[in-house]
Amino acid sequence: MIKSIEWTEQGSVRLLDQTRLPGEQIYVECRDFVSMAEAIGAMRIRGAPALGVAGAAAMALGAQAIQAGDFEAFYAELATLGERLANVRPTAKNLTWGIEQIKRSALKWKELPLQALKEALVREAKAILEQDIQTNQAIGEHGKALITNGSRILTHCNTGSLATAGYGTALGVIRAAFAEMKRLHVLVDETRPVLQGARLTAWELQQEGIPFTLIADTMAGHFMKQGEVDLVLVGADRIARNGDVANKIGTYTLAVLAKEHGIPFYVAAPRSTIDLSMTNGEAIPLEERCPEEVLQIGGKPIAPEGTKAKNPAFDVTPSRYVSAIITEGGIAYPPYERSFCDLLRS
Ligand code: MRU
Repeated sequence: MIKSIEWTEQGSVRLLDQTRLPGEQIYVECRDFVSMAEAIGAMRIRGAPALGVAGAAAMALGAQAIQAGDFEAFYAELATLGERLANVRPTAKNLTWGIEQIKRSALKWKELPLQALKEALVREAKAILEQDIQTNQAIGEHGKALITNGSRILTHCNTGSLATAGYGTALGVIRAAFAEMKRLHVLVDETRPVLQGARLTAWELQQEGIPFTLIADTMAGHFMKQGEVDLVLVGADRIARNGDVANKIGTYTLAVLAKEHGIPFYVAAPRSTIDLSMTNGEAIPLEERCPEEVLQIGGKPIAPEGTKAKNPAFDVTPSRYVSAIITEGGIAYPPYERSFCDLLRS
């Protein structure tokens, strides 16, 4: 299984640089908070669950450098690092979740001498990484029941091993169904502007030997109308209490198209993506990235110089378009507010 992120024996964090894929497999080594924050901002590591794992790792690395006389001073600095990091990629709930896990652990072990506390935070960040893989495998186990033999699945962005600590969410469901010898075919949206579908999902599916075809985002409606899509399966960056889903830009379009064509629209995500503090999707912060991502492909300009561009990285799909949400605790069906309560209790 591809490792998007791992701890080294020297106590640094090694990331597979996703900006260089599929052309080059280059690893970057992060030894401190600043280099982790840079890697997250530049999308060397990306995808909501991976951001949770990377966020926790960044905080644990950051903690090592804090020189404080007592716990209160230490915790205040840790909290400041957390605020800085959360703003780097504000949409994915998992990033704040990872940050909060480390802050909570610090509070839990506040009586420890500072050096022992710092070591405990690294152990916690490592445990979060390991846990993420198990969570994804559980999502896959639950979700594979929704995939029948011969299914033609449309997916968007990258939700595989690269977007997590391993295995994947929506791609994990596909992986689990494929492992059960189910025949399936994946239609992969290229996912402009950053091309996570073309560059990353195609790369992962190819390595796994799972049959797929790449399409331009604008072709999705055509293939649905032709009867060539049985279900849509995507991931999520933040899910509000009512089941509204923030995910990669273009997801909303797919959901509306799927409803028009009577095609089920499924979302796969860990429970750490669900944000019960948000009543609906309107309050979800949507990251706006730099216009160059739209104005260029692979560093080459595709529009006349001086062209203005907008680049919202995510959109929100209202819950009425979402047929089910697959989590590690089971599958939630509408009304989501109620099913989430059961899921989060279990
Ligand atoms: O901007 P990205 O590449 O971090 O966006 C990723 C997505 O939108 C994924 O669909 C989502 O995070 C789920 S990943 C399992």
